[in-house]
Order: sequence, then C-alpha cells, then structure tokens
Amino acid sequence: MNTPTAAFETRLELCATQVEALLARLLGDTPQADEIARPTRLMAAMRHGALNGGKRLRPFLVVESAALLSGNAGAALRVGTALECVHCYSLVHDDLPAMDDDDTRRGQPTVHIQYDEATAILAGDSLLTLAFDIIAAPETPLDDCRKVELMLALSRAAGIGGMAGGQMFDLQAETENPDEAGIIRLQAMKTGALIRFACEAGAILAGANDDGRSRLRRFGEKIGLAFQLSDDLLDLTADAATLGKATGKDVARGKGTLPSLHGIAWTEARLAALVSEAEALLEPYGPRAEALLQAARFIAYRRH
Ligand code: IPE
Ligand code: IPE
Ligand code: MG
Ligand code: MG
Ligand code: MG
Repeated sequence: MNTPTAAFETRLELCATQVEALLARLLGDTPQADEIARPTRLMAAMRHGALNGGKRLRPFLVVESAALLSGNAGAALRVGTALECVHCYSLVHDDLPAMDDDDTRRGQPTVHIQYDEATAILAGDSLLTLAFDIIAAPETPLDDCRKVELMLALSRAAGIGGMAGGQMFDLQAETENPDEAGIIRLQAMKTGALIRFACEAGAILAGANDDGRSRLRRFGEKIGLAFQLSDDLLDLTADAATLGKATGKDVARGKGTLPSLHGIAWTEARLAALVSEAEALLEPYGPRAEALLQAARFIAYRRH
C-alpha cells in the first residue's frame, strides 16, 4: 500500500509538533548560560529558517529508530531536533544566490530574501552550531560517551564526506555531467548522509548491539537514496504550490539527475526496489518496525 495510513500521519504530526515546540524554546531571545547576547535579527532569521513547517521527517526517523530499540524518548527528541537544525541550516545555505538561488522555501520567502544574504549565512552557521549544543547540553539525558559518539557521527554526516561535500559535488554536477555512479555518490552524501544518521542515531542512543546498529544504518542508506530520488522526481513532475518551493530547477540548471537520465517509469521502479530492500532489513523486528516502514513508503511515494 503506497498511501500513508492515518495512524502514520498522526504520529508524524505529533513528532512535528514536539520538534516545533522544542525549537521555539531553543530559539528564544533570552541568552543561555555563557552566551553574551542574542542578536534580535539573527534570532528572527533563525526562527524563519527553522520554524516554518517542514515535514520534520529526520527527527521522526530518530524518534522511531530509538523507540524500536527501546532508547530514551526524551533524548531521541532532542537528538532529532539537533539534526533538524543541521537540515534547516543546509536548506538556508542551499537556497543562497551562490548556490541554488531560490526565493521560496516551505511556501515562504527564503531567509536571504526575507532578511539579507549575510544574515542568512549567519543564521545557517548558528543553526549548525546549535545542533551540537543541543546534543551536548545537560538537558539531553544520555551519558557523555553516547553524546560524543552521536556528535562524531553527526559531524561525519554533515561535513566533508557527507552533506557539505555532497553539495560541492552537486554544484560541480551542473557543469561536469557525472555518470550514474557519480550521481548516486553525490546523493548519498548531500541528502543520504543526514538520513542515514537519523536512523543510526536511534540505535546509538539506545545502545543497540552491532546487528541493530548496522540494520538501522543500512535502512537509512536505502531511504536516504529514495529521499533524493523522489525529490528529483518531484522537481520534474510536481507543482511549486504543492511543494512550497520552485520546481523544474534541476533541468533549468543543467543538473543531471537519475530521473532526467532514465525517465519517470525507471525512477518509480527504482523507488519501489529501494523500499523493498529497506523493508527486508527490518524484517527481524516484525510489526514493531511498522512506523519506520511507513516512513520508507512515505519518502518514496510522497507528493510533497
Ligand atoms: C528537502 O528536504 C531538501 C532535500 C534534502 C532534498 P525535505 O523535503 O525534508 O524538506 P522539509 O524539511 O520537509 O521542508
Ligand atoms: C538539497 O538538494 C540537499 C541539501 C543538502 C540541502 P536540493 O537542492 O535538490 O533540495 P531542494 O530541492 O532545494 O529542497
Ligand atoms: Mg541544491
Ligand atoms: Mg535546492
Ligand atoms: Mg531538489
């Protein structure tokens, strides 16, 4: 079944509400211990970039992966929210004129349009830094070893060999026409790495054994690839009003994607194959993995 169930949608909405509430508290104007001041304009720009109705899928994956392996729910929400800060920063910078040059995100003006470019750069920088603050803070109920492990995994997923490096390859793809292997590698980095982290983080914070951690990590790799594949498909086939962001951008910028290389039918078949592979990885967990399996289907067959 390809349409998400009502139970799944309710669960995703509940997680989104909790993430939104925590982000609103973390992005308040009052300086925290050891902060000298919080510039009003910077805080407003950060709230614009983070509190604007994203799907919050990455935190959902952290929360559900942790729940599957009996991890602490409060810790999972905070780690998921930290990851959402990294994701929102990546979007603020991705939309900058020097990158994808987009004016609309989540149905609103992008941060550099609403404020200015320098403020958007600083809002992105500050969201990225805040992510590590959230994990390290005493309010996150995990022991220090787990926190360090999570911060290392998040650093690797967000940085040179993950999201930021993938964005570099993605920009080069506008002129260098990578082959299929090159496209898959850049997707695994620019989008897949944070989604893989989302799933693996649940296992790390739950103190899962090697098998559990490896299954969640590989599940994250499959759905991470599916995520960018469906984003590229939507860029070709959906309308801007539904997505809340411009469409047709990849063709306009001459960016090779798998849907443009192989067509829509091939992409849909590839998405279905990735969902089957993801499902097989969680088979040992039986019906307890249902929320994650629904998430995999939602990612592959989504309309927004
Ligand atoms: C969009 O991510 C950017 C990509 C990594 C493809 P999402 O589709 O998760 O965006 P939001 O957070 O729901 O707005
Ligand atoms: C963005 O990919 C991936 C990021 C790391 C932000 P896209 O550039 O395709 O994302 P959208 O389509 O602007 O959301
Ligand atoms: Mg981009
Ligand atoms: Mg973009
Ligand atoms: Mg896109």
